[in-house]
Amino acid sequence: MGKIILTGDRPTGKLHIGHYIGSLRNRVKLQDEGDYDKFFIEIADAQALTDNFANPKKIRDNVIEVVLDYLSVGIDPKKVNIFIQSEVPALTELTFYYMNLVTVARLMRNPTVKSEIGLRGFENNIPSGFLNYPVSQAADITAFKANCVPVGNDQLPMIEQANEIVHRFNSIYGDVLVHADAIVPESSMAARVPGIDGKAKMSKSLDNCIYLSDSSEEVKRKVMMMYTDPNHIKVEDPGKIEGNMVFTYLELFVTPEHFKKFLPDYQNLDELKSHYQRGGLGDVKIKRFLYDVLEDTLSEFRTRRKYYEEHIEEVYNIIKDGTKAANETANETLKEVKRAIGIDYFDDSFLNEITKQYSRD
Ligand code: TRP
Repeated sequence: MGKIILTGDRPTGKLHIGHYIGSLRNRVKLQDEGDYDKFFIEIADAQALTDNFANPKKIRDNVIEVVLDYLSVGIDPKKVNIFIQSEVPALTELTFYYMNLVTVARLMRNPTVKSEIGLRGFENNIPSGFLNYPVSQAADITAFKANCVPVGNDQLPMIEQANEIVHRFNSIYGDVLVHADAIVPESSMAARVPGIDGKAKMSKSLDNCIYLSDSSEEVKRKVMMMYTDPNHIKVEDPGKIEGNMVFTYLELFVTPEHFKKFLPDYQNLDELKSHYQRGGLGDVKIKRFLYDVLEDTLSEFRTRRKYYEEHIEEVYNIIKDGTKAANETANETLKEVKRAIGIDYFDDSFLNEITKQYSRD
């Protein structure tokens, strides 16, 4: 069987450059390499509702926002199917049958679920929908017979749990579902892009993000307030690279062309770093350079986003068509699943079977 790629995001907020480095950039690369049979990206709105059920407007508002983020970074709807989870009913149906194959104890042991229960303060009042979201994610993956699932490291327990369901299903009902391999970010740096304040991961709740949709002015303001080295006060002072966000982001974004274009006095990042460490290189200069480097990428995103914002009906049709294609594939799998379990009552074979069974002669 060929390669089927599936991944997804919860539409709980606009995406930032941490998402770009950690996953979107790789999706565009996979898309452009073209080494796959089908490529699906799911807007996991139903999953997002499992811990935002009281705030559905937030999810609704962010669906289009996230699609615009995808399109702006260069996800090509001709090559990739973008679809909305809640509009693919087969996923909900599959979830219901898969729930029989997982114990509550096993779900409670899932490390990602465990830490989220703590973070959300659910403790002894865990909504059962929330506890079951890994089962629903198994449905997302298996409905498309995806064998390649690009995700962040935090999602590894989900893929493991999905594969347990695959194997349990196949051993009870016969070989229908397909084992999925996770693909994780190539470096720990890419997996955990820190915020502009130098603290933990870039995250909306910490207000330390550079969003893919930020204006040029916002990017400049954020770069200028970025955490560098608090002891690097005068230009002549030697500066520290470790924990210095300007160098962290340069590491992730800079190319040799950027030096030629914006900072021809230096050949590469190593030269820039050693000058900074030696002393004599000011923060404003490296920040201006980082701003140019980021803008080189982000301005391209902005141009695409502007096009799609001005053609919002096209965006609507992209997800409508993507969802239609997703339904076709997922319904096909659901049919196989139901046949395997023996709950395909309105297939002709069932009529033949009962006719034979109840015929008197
Ligand atoms: N749980 C994923 C996240 O929070 C989103 C997601 C939902 C997903 N369904 C998926 C990812 C299927 C990969 C495959 O980021």
